[in-house]
Amino acid sequence: MKAFRVERNLLCHCFQSRWMVVALGVWACGLPPAATAAEVKPAEEQRTAADRGWQMLRSRAYLPPDFDQAVFDSLWTTWNEPLRRLAEQAPVEERRKMTMQRYGLTSDPVDRSRSLQYVVDANGNWTMSCLACHQGQVNGQVIPGVPNTNYALETLTEEVRLVKVQQRKPFGHMDMGSLFLPLGSTNGTTNAVMFGVALMRHRDRDLNIIARTPRFDLIHHDMDAPAWWHYARRTNLYADAFAPKGHRMLMQFLLVKENGPEKFREWEEEFRDVEAWIESIKPPRWPWAVDSVLVEKGRGVFAAHCATCHGRYESPKDYPEKIVAIDEVGTDRVRFDSLSVRERRDLSESWFGKSASSDSKGTANPIGYVAPPLDGIWASSPYFHNGSVPTLWHVLHPAERPVVWQRTPTGYDPVRVGLEVVLFEGMPTGKIPAAERRAFFNTTKPGKGAAGHDFPDALDEEEKKAVLEYLKTL
Ligand code: HEC
Ligand code: HEC
Repeated sequence: MKAFRVERNLLCHCFQSRWMVVALGVWACGLPPAATAAEVKPAEEQRTAADRGWQMLRSRAYLPPDFDQAVFDSLWTTWNEPLRRLAEQAPVEERRKMTMQRYGLTSDPVDRSRSLQYVVDANGNWTMSCLACHQGQVNGQVIPGVPNTNYALETLTEEVRLVKVQQRKPFGHMDMGSLFLPLGSTNGTTNAVMFGVALMRHRDRDLNIIARTPRFDLIHHDMDAPAWWHYARRTNLYADAFAPKGHRMLMQFLLVKENGPEKFREWEEEFRDVEAWIESIKPPRWPWAVDSVLVEKGRGVFAAHCATCHGRYESPKDYPEKIVAIDEVGTDRVRFDSLSVRERRDLSESWFGKSASSDSKGTANPIGYVAPPLDGIWASSPYFHNGSVPTLWHVLHPAERPVVWQRTPTGYDPVRVGLEVVLFEGMPTGKIPAAERRAFFNTTKPGKGAAGHDFPDALDEEEKKAVLEYLKTL
């Protein structure tokens, strides 16, 4: 196995710490960073709805608990050496930090002792929330709405199960579900779309629970959750824009059998607030300096080669939400093929689809993937719907995309713009424990391909350099 280290770039620490202060200060008062006062002046009422939504996401358990504090505190006993010994010798607080890090969880910036991604109740029960997949960090900093690209859901679930056996505790819905459905084969990506399909199969249009045989022909695949600051720009949702947008659509993730149809009606108002929060998130600004001459050149190149699909980012702003035929975009098609017309229609015509505005109709038979908005694109690496490409430089150089890559835990590469990665020509040989294997992104696996979107091939090297600089400013 040959590994080559991508040059590690020195980060500007003064920027880093100032950025953190801004981020924490802004989080504490509930406004997203990077938005200037002029940009964030929604009506007072809307502001409070967004604040309530944010609070709800951090404090409300909408699902049955996944595990308790005693299970969390014993997870380290399932780890391989030398990590296990290190954890054993560490003080409790340090061990908890190691545990959070292993599974891609982050401290809540307001209350550092809590995890942002799980709600913990007064009895110490931990329950997964939307933020498990939808709130992560960039360069070690929490930025509102950035996907959690470290989340190790499959490993967490497996190790929780081992501890529950030791502690003679009953399995929860995740512990059982993962025996039938893979949760995610690479850290930071999940099989979330197929969870949705599997759960929806047991509901009628009004979400009453119906008896049906489970489906065994699901096309499992892992997805990178999209940045939430794009929500405000979208008319329809998801990679193929098939679903009408609305607060009810956001509630799909609550479809476990414990939540009957009445729960969805009861919680609907709270999800208007959750939607207000998601809608209020502004894209974060690039925190380092840019070369303004290069940016100007890049602006022209972008207008000529990229804007017809991705829109314009200075006034008049314009986002066409263009769906590009699957063969034309050429990126991995498993996500596209994994949903049938019937499944798309069933979801859109169910209770979930009935909160959309009249211009949001979705489509049961999309032709390919939507060209996403590129605001804040520097912060939402890795790229493409399946998260297969680690940096913008690699998006712009299709022939040089890595076959196998591994990110550093929190590193950011401000030169290639994206995750700091180690590249490999193939998977390491020999037996690797599953938890360690999930730290590699293997683009040769089904659903994980990094090919396609060859549009940048029309650019010469100077033009690519200029576009890369321009993309930092969006
Ligand atoms: C297990 C991970 C996971 C959890 C938990 C989760 N999501 Fe998602 N979410 C995803 C993935 C993956 C997608 C992309 C699906 C696609 O494009 O097909 C997504 C898409 C979305 C989108 C669409 C954004 C767009 O631009 O199209 C919204 C909004 C969203 N989720 C909100 C939520 C809310 C609200 C919750 C909690 C009730 C939630 N999600 C829970 C993984 C998750
Ligand atoms: C013909 C339409 C089209 C053109 C032209 C185009 N793109 Fe794209 N782009 C797409 C589509 C569709 C996707 C989504 C692909 C996927 O997720 O599988 C995409 C994805 C991307 C992404 C990843 C976004 C993310 O959130 O992961 C970046 C970055 C990007 N394009 C940049 C560019 C740049 C820069 C140019 C011009 C050199 C360009 N694109 C030209 C359609 C286009």
